[in-house]
Amino acid sequence: MCGIIGYTGPLEAPKILLEGLSGLEYRGYDSAGVALCMEDSHIHLIKKAGKVKNLKGHCRQQISGSSHSGIGHTRWATHGGVTDANAHPHRAGKVVLIHNGIIENYHELTEKFQLQDRLISQTDSEVAAQVLNELYSGDPLDAICSLIKLLDGSYSFCIMFEDQPGAIFAIRNVSPLVAASTSSGSMIASDLTALIPYTRQYFVVPEQHIVKLTPYKVHVYHLDETFTKDYPEIMTVNWNMDAAMKNGFPHFMLKEIHEQPDAMRNTILPRVNKGLPDFSDDGIPDSIFESCDQVQIIACGTAMYAGMVARAIMQPVLKIPITVSIASEFRYEEPLIDKKALVIIISQSGETIDTLAALRLAHQCGSKTLAVVNVKGSTIARESDYVLYTHAGPEIAVASTKAYSVQLAALYMISCRMALVRGKYTRDQACSFLSDLLDVIPAMETVIAQKDFIRNIASHMIHSTDVFFIGRGLDYAFSLEGALKLKEISYIHSEAYAAGELKHGTIALISDQVPVIAIATQEHVYAKTISNIREVKARGAYIVLLVKENAQVDDSLADIQLRIPNVDDHFTVFPIAAALQLIAYYTSVSKHLDVDQPRNLAKSVTVE
Ligand code: G6P
Repeated sequence: MCGIIGYTGPLEAPKILLEGLSGLEYRGYDSAGVALCMEDSHIHLIKKAGKVKNLKGHCRQQISGSSHSGIGHTRWATHGGVTDANAHPHRAGKVVLIHNGIIENYHELTEKFQLQDRLISQTDSEVAAQVLNELYSGDPLDAICSLIKLLDGSYSFCIMFEDQPGAIFAIRNVSPLVAASTSSGSMIASDLTALIPYTRQYFVVPEQHIVKLTPYKVHVYHLDETFTKDYPEIMTVNWNMDAAMKNGFPHFMLKEIHEQPDAMRNTILPRVNKGLPDFSDDGIPDSIFESCDQVQIIACGTAMYAGMVARAIMQPVLKIPITVSIASEFRYEEPLIDKKALVIIISQSGETIDTLAALRLAHQCGSKTLAVVNVKGSTIARESDYVLYTHAGPEIAVASTKAYSVQLAALYMISCRMALVRGKYTRDQACSFLSDLLDVIPAMETVIAQKDFIRNIASHMIHSTDVFFIGRGLDYAFSLEGALKLKEISYIHSEAYAAGELKHGTIALISDQVPVIAIATQEHVYAKTISNIREVKARGAYIVLLVKENAQVDDSLADIQLRIPNVDDHFTVFPIAAALQLIAYYTSVSKHLDVDQPRNLAKSVTVE
């Protein structure tokens, strides 16, 4: 969740660290700090509650002299409130460190090393710094190795020792870290956005390895008794810096909504062969689709809601059980899966800790795993049996938009390929399905072009404390994501309900103060959905109706209608998603909220 950066080399470290932290801020933005090794080898700490912008102001005032190595951190608070003292880096004697993750046994360590009176902050991270200082007697690798043996939990650390000027040490257990040795120095970060202004070549720090950055080399040591040198594979970034900039848009979220049609093309077109979905270039064999007797989809957040749509698409065609699990629940529910289950893991970042743990559990149960992941080389991508990369490019806004659309595109293609190889679709049916999938791209463009009208819809939400989303079947599956989008960036309580379920309780909450966003794009349940809309309308709700262009709608039914192009019923999720994203976006903008960095959230959830 936290952002980490480290640099050592010939350039001025403060500039690199502060720019890097701005790029990493989407990972966590409660507080920020840097530790700089100054010319006299003293390590200067500057850390503040608040955003990186605030830290930059303090750095301008406080830094005098040159520094060529340092570490920086943006925090998403876990242990202890948002205060200057709890911000990272933490210092203990000669040790200065930053941390991402959670040290689960910090309390026991505090007692074991009798740290109670020495701790300045309330963080688990400072406990690790204090213990490391206790263990340090001049050999950093030895001390880090001893520390690791004492820690329970997930973590990545970047560490400086005051008597080792110019050197930065890092260790990784689950929480992600990437590193690079460049002509402008050595760098390490929690993700690539901080590295790409300087290099396109990087490597993923392997778990349970220590890296040592010196100005012109990154050394990698295995965490065994002999510290065997073991260099990981060098990878190349497949997107450029532009992709991680706003490029004239006021927010990343709006930019990413606009990028969806291209992201869809990039994800779908390379996998179309003679009009059919084909994953042979991805190394995914048809045997995994043929042999399974159930599909278990596991994910968190938006990715899990993409899974809900996929289930609604797949199950009626494949006629095998398709279940969707929240990763954090799946881990503890003693799942009934085995080697005949295909487990589909969905994750934009490829680092979400619960999703990763669920993947590992699926492997223990003997299941085959297929990951739908956006970030190349991420842990989930590397640990799955097979991976189908989505090609959304970097997604910076905390609220996921383009990643959701391309996850759906990938899942629709998987569904189509499975139906084909299991004899549920003829070639013609599969071709026609894929052609319908491609048709959603112009449909999404049409919806995005209506953004001014959608902004007007959003203006009806801004004074509300509750908004409900209703729909049936697939429309209900999309509503879940629409409600999540609205609540996470507008702070309006929003929930999605299956329209037919309203009468069993939720309708008690409907009044003339409550907007209801009703989605009715599914022909086979259209009449029933319309009846449910009438029921809430009769109780005074302000109705925003999302329907297809050709739907016959009584004028009295809705207060405002948004028409989407006439795509096949199975594919309406794509234009509807764009519409719901824009409603959430403009509601947040109209409330003058921080669209890209909503309160309390973080982009990549690497703590349990
Ligand atoms: C966080 C993000 C969401 C995302 C979820 C799962 O909550 O804010 O946008 O859907 O994590 O992340 P993943 O990277 O696994 O898709």
